[in-house]
Amino acid sequence: MAETQTGSLPGIPDGAEERREALVEVYRGASACERCALAETRNKVVFGSGNSDADLMFVGEAPGAEEDRRGLPFVGRAGKFLGELLEGIGMQREDVFINNVLCCRPPGNRDPQPEEIEACRPWLESRISLIQPRVIGTLGNFATKLLTGKPTGITKVRGSAQHHTLGGRPVLLLPLFHPAAGLRTRAVAEQLREDFKLIPGLLTEPLPEPIAAVDDLEPETESDPMERPVEVSADQMGLFG
Ligand code: URA
Repeated sequence: MAETQTGSLPGIPDGAEERREALVEVYRGASACERCALAETRNKVVFGSGNSDADLMFVGEAPGAEEDRRGLPFVGRAGKFLGELLEGIGMQREDVFINNVLCCRPPGNRDPQPEEIEACRPWLESRISLIQPRVIGTLGNFATKLLTGKPTGITKVRGSAQHHTLGGRPVLLLPLFHPAAGLRTRAVAEQLREDFKLIPGLLTEPLPEPIAAVDDLEPETESDPMERPVEVSADQMGLFG
């Protein structure tokens, strides 16, 4: 836990375009990340995609095979279902920002390991700090436990919004089942559809003013992940609308 300042974190620009440019810089750094052993087996880093000024962010678990191949989050079957859930509340993928706890695919889609989550945490923290979402839907156990800072499993906490401070700002976390679980079990899919209906109301709920907040994600203290820029193509820059 670490103290952060009110409003924006130090070094976080105020304007949406400036924050988008900073996000592209972070993306450049993440594209060359070797902070954990997943760098050796990944095909592409899956940094996240969508609206860089989104009020609504989703955090999933980790890229799967299709995401690893394309460098984009939630583009397989679970992603298709996530798109349907969004459409059910009148929203599109382009309206939101979608990313994961891990930027790289664990071999064979095994569970993320604690050291991988820790290594990838600064990238997620940077995305939250720069995008400044009001509502974060945590998809499944890994994102929920990391961002709530509590070990309580998703089945107990799903569908109840929680107030947290992330990226130096107040945010409403909405724990949700992972869409992949909804593909396996009809009752989970139904629950997800119900829980998604909470989102429009949460997006208009007033958030408390940030005052000398305690952040729930620790800031990076070692090497600066925003360093080590690499060349990225114009196509990749288009990740963020
Ligand atoms: N599952 C996830 O958690 N993330 C993805 O990007 C795809 C599937």
